[in-house]
Amino acid sequence: MTSWVLFPRLHLAEIEDQSWCPSWLREHTHRALARMWQTSNSKNGSPATQACELILQTLGGVEQAAQFTFVDACAGAGGPTPLLEAKMNDRLTSSGYKPVDFVLTDLWPDIKAWEKISKHSEHISYIPEPIDATKPRRLAKEGTKECRIFNLCFHHFKDDAAEKVLSSAVQSTDAFMIFEMTHRTIPSLLNTTIVILSVFITTLYDFYWSPIHLLFTYIIPIAPLFYAVDGYVSCTRGRTAEETWALLRRQRGLDLSEWELRSGEQTALLPFGKLYWYSGVRKTIKKYSG
Ligand SMILES: C[S@@+](CC[C@H](N)C(=O)[O-])C[C@H]1O[C@@H](n2cnc3c(N)ncnc32)[C@H](O)[C@@H]1O
Repeated sequence: MTSWVLFPRLHLAEIEDQSWCPSWLREHTHRALARMWQTSNSKNGSPATQACELILQTLGGVEQAAQFTFVDACAGAGGPTPLLEAKMNDRLTSSGYKPVDFVLTDLWPDIKAWEKISKHSEHISYIPEPIDATKPRRLAKEGTKECRIFNLCFHHFKDDAAEKVLSSAVQSTDAFMIFEMTHRTIPSLLNTTIVILSVFITTLYDFYWSPIHLLFTYIIPIAPLFYAVDGYVSCTRGRTAEETWALLRRQRGLDLSEWELRSGEQTALLPFGKLYWYSGVRKTIKKYSG
């Protein structure tokens, strides 16, 4: 069942998007998000596992998925990609296909986190230079198709930037997948409250060795305040499927006739965490030059 949308979309400012946002705060949330993607508390597995299944369904199964390179366009600290890659390649190799490659990119590359991730998997690489998702280049390995994935980041884009992100995907890739967990819905607001409170636990796990993180979480609660502001603000920025596809349809000259657009939502983290997904797949084969 589609969740009830409570109020019109707003694009209030997130602290994370400001150039003055301290990098330790960004790193703090990205680590927490990466952990959230891997947390499994339902029979359907973690959000990352569910994302893998959704991508497989969207692309039409393992045979089709085996033809792709997957680009995580706003990777943060890696988000779901380490687990997603392992699950995807398990599914492919157990069906007799070769493993596929994943590439991490971001406007603010987290090289430290990505080095660690790529050391653990020969199928995950990264681009160390900043790549703006509104003007990316095609990164698929030669002879493969490209699927661009946007994990928990599409709400960061104002409508004009979001239009560019989508039109670039339509013009230079073969598929794209958007995953969001913040939205203008009751489950999303409740889940965000749990994520905000979880900072008191995750800081101990991730940053027990760092006086600055401990000070600014438990004594002067800057980190929890940051989570609260950015968490609720990102909920107000969530888009419905209609609002997302309208960004594509209003672009003159953009040919969508070959594209199949779909969307849905499902519970990914009990009790309230919904995964909202929006997918696009090119139905025909396109040749790319350059
Ligand atoms: C909320 S974080 C999500 C991180 C990760 N995808 C995850 O799921 O944990 C949003 C990410 O979007 C990135 N981002 C924001 N604007 C961007 C842009 N124009 N181009 C590329 N990345 C961008 C930020 O640097 C940040 O890493």
